[in-house]
Amino acid sequence: MSNERIEEDIFSVEGYIAVVTGGMGQLGRQFVKSLAERGAKVAIFARHAPDRASIKQVFAGLSERIIAVPVDITKKETIKQGLSIVMNTWGIPHVLINNAGLDTQPSAPPEVSGPFENFPDEVFREVVEVNLVGTFLCCQVIGAEMAKAGRGSIINIGSIYGMLSPVQDIYAYKEAKTGIPFVKPVAYSASKSGVYNLTRYLATYWAAKGVRVNTLTPSGVWRSTQDPEFQANYCAKMPMKRMAREDEFNGAIIFLASQASSYMTGSNLVIDGGWTAW
Ligand SMILES: NC(=O)c1ccc[n+]([C@@H]2O[C@H](COP(=O)([O-])OP(=O)(O)OC[C@H]3O[C@@H](n4cnc5c(N)ncnc54)[C@H](O)[C@@H]3O)[C@@H](O)[C@H]2O)c1
Repeated sequence: MSNERIEEDIFSVEGYIAVVTGGMGQLGRQFVKSLAERGAKVAIFARHAPDRASIKQVFAGLSERIIAVPVDITKKETIKQGLSIVMNTWGIPHVLINNAGLDTQPSAPPEVSGPFENFPDEVFREVVEVNLVGTFLCCQVIGAEMAKAGRGSIINIGSIYGMLSPVQDIYAYKEAKTGIPFVKPVAYSASKSGVYNLTRYLATYWAAKGVRVNTLTPSGVWRSTQDPEFQANYCAKMPMKRMAREDEFNGAIIFLASQASSYMTGSNLVIDGGWTAW
C-alpha cells in the first residue's frame, strides 16, 4: 500500500454542527473552542447569550463558526426556538453536549449547604430542574431531529458526585473556620445520578436510528476562586494528587463527537484522575 495514501481522520469533526449548552461556562468554553478549532460549527445555548463582540473576544479567530442563542434549558419552548435558529443557520446538529449545570460551591450560604435534614426542597427541585430535566428536554427536542436525520452523538456531562457520594471530610474545614456546618448538598449528586440512566435509556431507544448517547464524567476542575483548603483536601484524596485542568476533557469530547467512537453508546467515559478507582 502506498505511503502517500491519506488515512481518513476518524477523529474529524470538520463541518459538524454542534450545540453546547452552558457553552460560556468553564468547561463549556473549552468544548466550544476545541470543536470550532477542528472545523465544527458550534451553537452555544446560554441563558444570557453573549453578543458578537464577546464571542469574538472569548473565541479569538474562531467566531465565524460560533453563534450564541438565548436558551434556558429548563424551558422547552426556548430550546425549540434555539434549535430552529441552528437549523435555519446551518442544519440539523450532529452533536449535542448537555453541559449546562448547577452545583453548590463551598462558598454557598448556610441555608443551602447545611445538614441534609434541613436541605430546602425548593433548592433540590431547582437543581434537578436544570441538571436532569434540562438535559432530558434538550435530548427530547434536539435528539428527535437527530433521530429523524438518522445520525447524531449526544454527550451528557455527569460528575463523579453523580456516581459516588461526595466525601464530606473535604468540606469539614468550613465548619472549623466559621463554626457553621457545611455539608456538600444532596441535590447535585441526586440530579447527576439520573443522567446516567437517562443516557442508557436513550442509547438503547435511539440505537437503531443512528443516534449515540454517552455520558462524560469529570472530577473536580481547578479554579482560582476555590478555597485553598478545599483544593488541598481534594488533592489529598485524589490518586493523581491534583485537580483537573479545564482542558483535560477536550480529547474525550472530540472522541465522543466523532466517528472514532462510532460503536460506543450508553457508556460512561470517566476522566477523574483515578478518583473512582479507589
Ligand atoms: N467544574 C467541575 O469541577 C465539574 C466537575 C464535574 C462535573 N462538572 C459538570 O460539568 C458541567 C460544566 O461545569 P462548569 O464547571 O463549567 O460549570 P459553570 O458553572 O462554569 O458553567 C455552567 C454553565 O451552565 C449555564 N446554565 C446553568 N443553568 C442553565 C440553564 N437553565 N439554561 C442554560 N444554561 C444554564 C450557566 O450559565 C453556566 O454558563 C456541569 O454539568 C457540571 O456539573 C463540572
